[in-house]
Amino acid sequence: MKKIQIAVDGPASSGKSTVAKIVARNLDLIYLDTGAMYRAATFVALQKETEDATKIIEYIKNHPLSFANRENGQEVFLGSDNVTEVIRTNEVTNAVSKISAISEIREFMVAEQQRIANQGGIIMDGRDIGTVVLPRADLKIFLIASVDERAERRYKENLSKGIPTDLERLKIEIAERDHKDSTREVSPLKQADDAVLLDSTGKTINDVVNFIEVKARELM
Ligand code: CDP
Ligand code: CDP
Repeated sequence: MKKIQIAVDGPASSGKSTVAKIVARNLDLIYLDTGAMYRAATFVALQKETEDATKIIEYIKNHPLSFANRENGQEVFLGSDNVTEVIRTNEVTNAVSKISAISEIREFMVAEQQRIANQGGIIMDGRDIGTVVLPRADLKIFLIASVDERAERRYKENLSKGIPTDLERLKIEIAERDHKDSTREVSPLKQADDAVLLDSTGKTINDVVNFIEVKARELM
């Protein structure tokens, strides 16, 4: 079977990581959550109280990012520290668009993502995968859903984890992050010309997984 590259881009909470993880398992591909990489850089920025890209990158070079696949999902490490939970806090979420807009940080992350993609078949999710990281990906998906539905999905997810959340506030935060990610100068979130647009509003995770897998299997 041909080892293919699949790029999944789209706005916050459109279901990218959830579906990409399932497709990776079903098609035996590496899964890379690039959002987790920018979240980890943001965590470093907050910890070190700096927005100096050189310092953030230096820290990550000394404490390399790595991933471990577990039954209940993927764990993220910064050096030997397990940062899986701490990179998902509100504090990180609300600062991530600012840190991910710094060009030096993006150059460093993109080089790392391309290095990982060279290791074999891969499905990567993020904002600039189809446009910048894997411009020659075999399949590009641009996954969207209405802001209301995306906020409700994240709200339910938080509820199931026991995280108290204000739904209206969540809608505003998601819309703000989308705006920042789509209007930044370097590698903004946008649909690649050759990407397939998939609107998942009203669709189940299974619907989306099946759609991607049918397209992927045609290419394998
Ligand atoms: O899961 P969620 O949609 O909340 O976000 P994420 O995929 O974890 O990404 C967090 C943030 O990282 C995004 O809002 C972007 O600012 C940034 N990001 C990026 O700039 N480029 C990527 N390839 C992936 C994420
Ligand atoms: O990675 P991204 O931020 O795009 O989204 P996610 O974290 O994969 O998905 C956000 C939430 O939406 C998760 O709780 C998923 O289970 C849920 N989801 C859904 O309810 N229906 C879908 N079609 C896709 C995701």
